Amino acid sequence: MAGIVILSGAGISAESGLGTFRDAGGLWQQYDLEQVATPEGFARDPALVHDFYNARRANASGASPNPAHEALARLEKFYPGEVLIVTQNIDDLHERAGARNVVHMHGDLFRALCAACGHRWDAPAVMDPADACPACGALATRPDVVWFGEVPYHLEAIFAALHEARLFAAIGTSGSVYPAAAFVEDAARAGAHCVELNLEPSEVVEAFDEARQGRASAIVPDWVEDVLSAQG
Ligand code: APR
Repeated sequence: MAGIVILSGAGISAESGLGTFRDAGGLWQQYDLEQVATPEGFARDPALVHDFYNARRANASGASPNPAHEALARLEKFYPGEVLIVTQNIDDLHERAGARNVVHMHGDLFRALCAACGHRWDAPAVMDPADACPACGALATRPDVVWFGEVPYHLEAIFAALHEARLFAAIGTSGSVYPAAAFVEDAARAGAHCVELNLEPSEVVEAFDEARQGRASAIVPDWVEDVLSAQG
């Protein structure tokens, strides 16, 4: 049976205490994204970038999944078809809620990457420009996250799933960053029913068949129960 594709954004982790980017007081009002989320910023000041991700890694480690993450794990467990969670988030709250079929299109805060040889390994709690790559020894270690101007991960698998989807849900995302913001168009072209679950209408809400506004911890569990009960 064609499956369900979920796209999640920072809003699903907001009630777990992790910041969003574009809300009032969001991360892009606290930091200059050019300095901390671009390859140029990393080349200019790697210590500043590591400090930024070390702080987010500590926040994420201390956070807990909320009822929205838990509801999606329940959906994956009880839905009779495939459920793929495509997350723009770099935290691990979907996995800690029990979801297994998760792809991180913007990378993973808990993984490290060597910019010299491409080696990946589990990131230490605190990363430092003086860290040497465990494989090649170069002083070129970076968080394994996708910065602005870089190509998101897993796009081929994501588009393949969108073309097969019978249901597409975007949860907690402002619809302001591409290619994720256009996933709804691919799903709609494939004939999927598209639903947006967000605190407020996103920039691409018009592309959805259905939109539910509210806090993710409240509206996602209700939506999951609706989907599962429709399965009989
Ligand atoms: N419940 C549901 N939605 C919420 C909640 C909540 N409790 N709190 C905030 N939101 C919504 C906001 O209304 C907003 O539309 O979540 C959305 C968060 O939008 P952004 O801050 O833009 O985050 P996101 O869409 O994930 O950003 C996409 O941009 O900076 C890059 O790589 C970064 O992955 C990120 C990408």
